[in-house]
Amino acid sequence: MKKILVLGKDGQLGRSLQAKGIMQCLGRDELDLSKTETIFDRLMDLDFDILVNAAAYTAVDKAEVERKLAEKINGESLEFISKACNEKGALLIQISTDYVFGDTLPRPICETHTTIPESVYGASKLYGESMVQKFCERYFIIRTSWLYSNYGHNFMNTMLKLAETKSKINVVVDQVGSPTWVDDLADAVLEISRSASTEYGIYHYSNEGLCSWFDFAHAIFEITGSSVDLSPVESDAFPTKATRPSYSVLNKRKIRNTFNFQINHWRDSLNRCLEQKKSSK
Ligand SMILES: NC(=O)c1ccc[n+]([C@@H]2O[C@H](COP(=O)([O-])OP(=O)(O)OC[C@H]3O[C@@H](n4cnc5c(N)ncnc54)[C@H](OP(=O)(O)O)[C@@H]3O)[C@@H](O)[C@H]2O)c1
Repeated sequence: MKKILVLGKDGQLGRSLQAKGIMQCLGRDELDLSKTETIFDRLMDLDFDILVNAAAYTAVDKAEVERKLAEKINGESLEFISKACNEKGALLIQISTDYVFGDTLPRPICETHTTIPESVYGASKLYGESMVQKFCERYFIIRTSWLYSNYGHNFMNTMLKLAETKSKINVVVDQVGSPTWVDDLADAVLEISRSASTEYGIYHYSNEGLCSWFDFAHAIFEITGSSVDLSPVESDAFPTKATRPSYSVLNKRKIRNTFNFQINHWRDSLNRCLEQKKSSK
């Protein structure tokens, strides 16, 4: 049985991987990725065959004013994580993002598409990818998008919270992507880690289908039976520090074909996530 180590145990993906039985998980207290000088030695002391890096600086707007910190956590740290994995002969599964792309034509984006990040966060994650590619021999980089789960800070939880106090909510309609339930991503990561595939490289993974943030909110309120008055607005109604792509649907053909994946439609997964939320109350 291969031994898996997860970094980012208190994040959305880290928590889902723990819930699925992964025992060896480290949080920021146990390994702070901003202290890059400590990473290699700390990892060399641990026993693992596969490292899943689910830790990241994920505050997309704050990163615009904390560039150095975001670069350290999302970029520089990957040099030392990669070198430790290489030294141990371990497989590295690094989670990355659709924000490595800038504005593209509205067609699902392949792994080989030119990366032009428009935000500090996107650039820092791309820096991390380049460190993995440079310093690690056995790696899978999984780019994903629009993560949500029952815990943590995400769009679904924000909408549900807003609906508790507001009768009218405006949501952006001119950004299109694919929501991804973290439990589906965790299953994909575990399947990849169990596979004996040596087809290392970059893969795209999200739930199937696409929608705008407005459509996503509409589905959340439809499924939960909320009577909130929802209105579509353009992005400029909510100015943000970081620029976000208006179209970021990932093409998943490569991951489907390589690992024989059946990927759930975002709406089916949203139903299951909300079902889970209801039954855990
Ligand atoms: N969320 C999205 O919509 C989205 C979309 C595309 C890709 N991704 C990528 O998917 C992965 C998982 O995302 P997520 O939503 O699960 O993230 P998340 O919930 O924000 O969790 C990130 C985790 O990283 C930890 N972390 C932050 N700085 C750290 C440091 N200096 N040292 C050690 N740990 C640190 C955080 O620790 P604390 O709990 O102590 O803060 C947190 O537990 C990330 O690589 C992210 O870039 C996310």
